Amino acid sequence: MALSPHQPIGIFDSGIGGLTVAKAITRLLPEEEMIYFGDTAHLPYGDKSSDAVHHFASHITRFLLDKQCKLIVIACNTASSVAYDVLQFQHGETVLMVNVIDPIVEGVTDKKQHKDIGIIGTQGTIGSGIYENKIREIDPEIRVHNLATPLLAPMIEAGFFHNKISKEIIDSYLAQPKLEDIEALILACTHYPLIKEDIEEYYQGMVDVYDSTDFVAQEVKRLLKNRELLNNFKSNDHHFYVSDYTDAFEQTTHYYYQEKIGLELCPHWSQVEEFPGNEKESL
Ligand code: DGL
Repeated sequence: MALSPHQPIGIFDSGIGGLTVAKAITRLLPEEEMIYFGDTAHLPYGDKSSDAVHHFASHITRFLLDKQCKLIVIACNTASSVAYDVLQFQHGETVLMVNVIDPIVEGVTDKKQHKDIGIIGTQGTIGSGIYENKIREIDPEIRVHNLATPLLAPMIEAGFFHNKISKEIIDSYLAQPKLEDIEALILACTHYPLIKEDIEEYYQGMVDVYDSTDFVAQEVKRLLKNRELLNNFKSNDHHFYVSDYTDAFEQTTHYYYQEKIGLELCPHWSQVEEFPGNEKESL
């Protein structure tokens, strides 16, 4: 099926993190219609097995394909690490697919400024070694300093931020010896732009802090433009789906997205799409 400019952009994450990417895309491309999916029934993805994350990402991709998306953004580093290659192979002929890793790796290494780059992200992303491999493929002289920071995404998802305790958690991660001597830090989790200010405050301008949001939005624009798929008529018909609904989650999404969002629940998603290994109970 040929793609058309009027089709929506699909975007997904385990929860609210991907909203930071969605926001950057709507800022750059305000005419585009957006369909967001937050897999709140299964978050966090960061401590799940790659099979489980791949399973959830495949189901969500099919959901977004049913919604006729012309382009799908995997707005989650963990899912981008373990599922992008396969999803791209399976659906790349039908839909444009963007992950959140390649645009920032290319953007940061392009500057050729940094020789010591820190990466913080979930256990899944850091364990996959994907940033290190991609960065060193581009420039083998760059030293990559990886640190898994598993408490950060659940902390942010719970709306726990900009307070004394969240600051202590952030600071104690950033003070780890693994991140000594870095010149730049990549926030390799789409939740982390929400605490970027705290991270920048910790470094007091001594380290350049990068998040993927604007790099990804630029990549989406580039791909759509190349294929003449940019929408010319403004659409306000965005949809935000979750696999499990709570009031607290809705409040947090309003705070982070900075405008009113009507969340729609995907009925029975959590039961129907549960991973066969029942990861939640085994954790
Ligand atoms: N926002 C996601 C990421 O970029 C994952 C957070 C989580 O669910 O653990 O990796």
